[in-house]
Amino acid sequence: MNILGIETSCDETAAAIVRTESNKVSVLANVVSSQVKLHAKWGGVVPNLAAREHEKNIIPVLEKTFSEAGVAPKNIDLIAVTQGPGLIPALLVGTNVAKTLSYLWKKPLVGIHHIEGHIYANYLTPTLSLVRRGSKGEVKFPVLCLVVSGGHTQLVLMKKHLDYKIIGQTLDDAAGEAFDKVARILGLGYPGGPAIAAEATKLNSPYLPLKIRGGIPSLDSREGEGEFSKIKLPRPLINSNDFNFSFSGLKTAVLYTVKKISNKRLRATGYRLREHLCADFQQAVIDVLVAKTIKAAKKYNPKTIMLAGGVSANLELRKQLGEAVKKNLPRTEYQIPDTVYSLDNAAMVAAAAYFRWKNMSAASRKNLNKNWSKLEADSNLKLA
Ligand code: KG4
Ligand code: ZN
Repeated sequence: MNILGIETSCDETAAAIVRTESNKVSVLANVVSSQVKLHAKWGGVVPNLAAREHEKNIIPVLEKTFSEAGVAPKNIDLIAVTQGPGLIPALLVGTNVAKTLSYLWKKPLVGIHHIEGHIYANYLTPTLSLVRRGSKGEVKFPVLCLVVSGGHTQLVLMKKHLDYKIIGQTLDDAAGEAFDKVARILGLGYPGGPAIAAEATKLNSPYLPLKIRGGIPSLDSREGEGEFSKIKLPRPLINSNDFNFSFSGLKTAVLYTVKKISNKRLRATGYRLREHLCADFQQAVIDVLVAKTIKAAKKYNPKTIMLAGGVSANLELRKQLGEAVKKNLPRTEYQIPDTVYSLDNAAMVAAAAYFRWKNMSAASRKNLNKNWSKLEADSNLKLA
């Protein structure tokens, strides 16, 4: 079947068409129009601006999706849209377009939870099968999924498809939100995740002289950064007796460290300081995420540990969680999404819809034909 996905929960206007055949979900087209540049000016997403942009972009994005996929609307079998959670003015654009198309084209419509979409990004590859792992190539249940995005940080246990039990979550900021806030403190702009990751990587590059002496870059310019290399930010809740997270204290710790350094010193060695802070901040987040995931896995014995959400694009996190799984739980599979599908997109929404459809009775499927009259965007939609 051909599934059209639509996603407008935050600052990406996205549409995709996936084709499912037996056990495969192939992506025929995946179009994302990002508003990052627009919101960067404000240091974060402005809901009403996002909605205006979605309204402007959604039709061109849909046109491009259909033309790239080479599929006519009459050959769409199911429409899937992100129903929530997210910014309500933004969600409403996507749900209204999806409802209108469902009514006009007489196609069934299904609403998808945004995080469910992120989880099912793990079942997409650009060309091939949804099946990536295991002896029969299937993702093995139970799955323990670490969801890390701009709005969520959760450990989700799945005994089977579409069955979610949240065993731990952040008590304050989400991991991605912490990346964004720390980037703001350090003047790195929005979104913070990729910017912080890039600064952290620079630290290990030998080709970054800071002080210029007599116009010639000096390789001993690392002098004076000794105190920065001792920076050790807290690892909040790393030893707590539960599976919850807390990242707001970490952001405050970065803020205090920056404030303690005099302006003059900051100007002299500011870039190195920023790199050290970014590297240790990123490592602090990873340490906590990895420790809690492994701890939860030891308790719940999943067959697969999965990663999902925008922060799953972080290469260090992908690597270090993989290494920790291999070392601590050698018999557990490790499943991560293609980085193309880590960030918000609509292919993941269509993939989740496929599994919803597959698990529905004939009567429930029939009800989807009238869903255009019932579906409502819900900014606080719960996963479980
Ligand atoms: O899932 P997503 O695209 O949107 C939400 O559902 O929130 O996640 C966006 C978040 C942002 O906070 C962004 O800074 C973070 O993911 N992010 C990253 C990286 N790329 C995006 N965080 C760390 N490292 C990255 N490479
Ligand atoms: Zn997301």
